[in-house]
Amino acid sequence: MTPVPAAARAGGVAAASEEIVVLDYGGQYSQLIARRVRDCGVFSELLPHGVSTDELAARGPRGIILSGGPASVYAEGAPRLDRRLLELGIPVLGICYGMQLLVHALGGRVEQAEVGEFGRSELHVREPGTLLAGLPLEQTCWMSHRDTVFEAPPGFSALASSSASPVAAVEDQARGIYGIQFHPEVVHTPYGPEILRRFLTEVCGCERTWCAASIVQEQTRRIRAQVGDGRVICGLSGGVDSSVAALLVHRAVGDQLTCVFVDHGLMRKDEGEQVVSAFQDTFKVPLVAVDAEQRFLEKLRGVTDPEAKRKAIGGEFIRVFEEEAGRLAAVQGGAGARYLVQGTLYSDVIESGGGTGAATIKSHHNVGGLPDDLRFELVEPLRALFKDEVRAVGLELGLPERLVWRQPFPGPGLAIRIVGGEATKQRLNLLREADHILQDEIRRAGLYRELWQSFCVLPDVRTVGVQGDERTYGYVIVVRAVTSDDAMTADWARLPYDLLETIASRMINELREVNRVVLDITSKPPGTIEWE
Ligand code: XMP
Repeated sequence: MTPVPAAARAGGVAAASEEIVVLDYGGQYSQLIARRVRDCGVFSELLPHGVSTDELAARGPRGIILSGGPASVYAEGAPRLDRRLLELGIPVLGICYGMQLLVHALGGRVEQAEVGEFGRSELHVREPGTLLAGLPLEQTCWMSHRDTVFEAPPGFSALASSSASPVAAVEDQARGIYGIQFHPEVVHTPYGPEILRRFLTEVCGCERTWCAASIVQEQTRRIRAQVGDGRVICGLSGGVDSSVAALLVHRAVGDQLTCVFVDHGLMRKDEGEQVVSAFQDTFKVPLVAVDAEQRFLEKLRGVTDPEAKRKAIGGEFIRVFEEEAGRLAAVQGGAGARYLVQGTLYSDVIESGGGTGAATIKSHHNVGGLPDDLRFELVEPLRALFKDEVRAVGLELGLPERLVWRQPFPGPGLAIRIVGGEATKQRLNLLREADHILQDEIRRAGLYRELWQSFCVLPDVRTVGVQGDERTYGYVIVVRAVTSDDAMTADWARLPYDLLETIASRMINELREVNRVVLDITSKPPGTIEWE
C-alpha cells in the first residue's frame, strides 16, 4: 500500500468541516475532480488510493470519490479496493476505473471489450435513479477506457449505456454506492457538473459553503491558532501567491506580520512600486522595501550562463533576506520573527507527493525559495488552495485586479530573458521598456488574461537595419506569448497580425536601440516557455 504522506496524515490541508475525499488511482483527471467538487462549493482533497480505510473512517468525509486510472482491474499489481470502504456508510462514487473497481468488487461483470471507448460518446439514460434525475435522457459524455462494465452487481440498477458501454452508470441507493464510466469532471461532459452536484447534495447531503469568504474566515482562524502572539515575516515577490498569503496573515494577526520586499532590479516596469503601494498604502501592512538593485547587478557582472545567473540571484536574495530579518529582529527586540509565510499552493503539495509536512519549502526554481536553516516555522495559508481559489481569495481581500491576475513571472526576473549575454543595467532597462510596450498592447487588446504568459526576450545579438536613410546596428526583441493550463505544455498564442504590427512598430519607434522584432512560434514541447 502506498504510504500516506505526512501532510495528508496531519490533515495538512483540511480546512473545512465537511469534505469530499477523492482517492487518486492515477487518472489524468484526478486533480480536476477535486477542483470540480470545490467549484460546487464543497471542500475536497485528493488522497493517494493507498490511504487506509481506518484512516478514511477517522476523517469522516461526507463522501468518497474513486478516480479513474490507467490500470485494468485484472492486471497484476493493479490498485485494489478495500471492500470495507464500501461498508463505512459513507457514500461512494466511482468514476471510470473507480466504477470498474467497485463493480468488480461487488460481483458485477467487468471485461476487456473488443474496442476501447475514447473521446466523445452518447449516453442513453434508461433509468435516471438519483444520480441522473432531471437530466436529458440522451446526452454527450467523455469516455476514456478499455475495460468495460457488462453487468451491474447484484442489488444495483444499471442507469445508462453508451455506444460502447452496455452499463455506463450504476447505483445502489440503499448502500449509497454509485458509479459512472464517463468523466463528469471534463468540459466535454456538459452535464458533468450537474451530476457531481447531485452526488454532493442529494446523496452526500453537503451544504456547499466552500467559497472565498469561508476560506478567508477559516484560514484566519487557523493562522491565529498557529501563530499566537508570535512575530511573522513574509517575503513578497509581487506575484499573486505571496501577496494573497501575506494579506491573509495580516488579516489574522495584523502588525505581528512584517513583509520584506526585495527589489532586485529585475522586475517588470513599475512592478516594485505597485507592490509597495498596494501593501504599504492601501493595506497598511508593515513593509520593508529593500532597494538591492546595485547588489544584484554586481553579482550578475560578467555572468552569461543562465544557471549561473539563477544561482547568483538566488544566493544574493537569501543574503539580503537574512540581513533584513536580522535587522528587523534587532529593531523589534527578542529573537525576531519565529514564523515565515510561504505561498505554497495545493498543486505544489500534490506534485511533491503530498508534501513533507511543515518542513516543505517551495523550492522549485524560485528566488523566493529560502534555505531551511533559516529556522523559521512555516505558515502556509494557501496550502489547501488551487490557483483559481487563491485569486478568488485575493479579490475577496480587496487585492487589486492587476495583482490578482498577474501572469506568472520567474523569480530571477528579466535577467534570464537576456539570452547569451550579461544582464547589464542598460540591457535590463531596454528589455523592461520593450516588455512594457508588449504588456500595454496586450492589455489594450483585452488579451492579457487569456494568455498564460506574454513577455519579451533580448538575445545578445545585433542585426543590420535601415532607419531614416541610415544604416543601424540594433538589438532584436523577441515576442513570446503562450497559452497554457499549467506551464507543463504550452502553445504559442495566435496574436492578431494588427496587434503584432502595432507592438513591433511601437518598439522600433520608441526604443532607439531596437531595429528588429521577431515572434517566437514554438510550442512546449519541444521549446520551453522561457528561453533560458
Ligand atoms: P519553462 O521555461 O520551463 O517555464 O517552460 C515553465 C514556467 O516556469 C517559469 N520559470 C521560472 N520560474 N524561476 C521561476 O520562479 C525560474 O528560474 C524559472 N524558469 C522558468 C516560467 O516563467 C514558466 O511560467
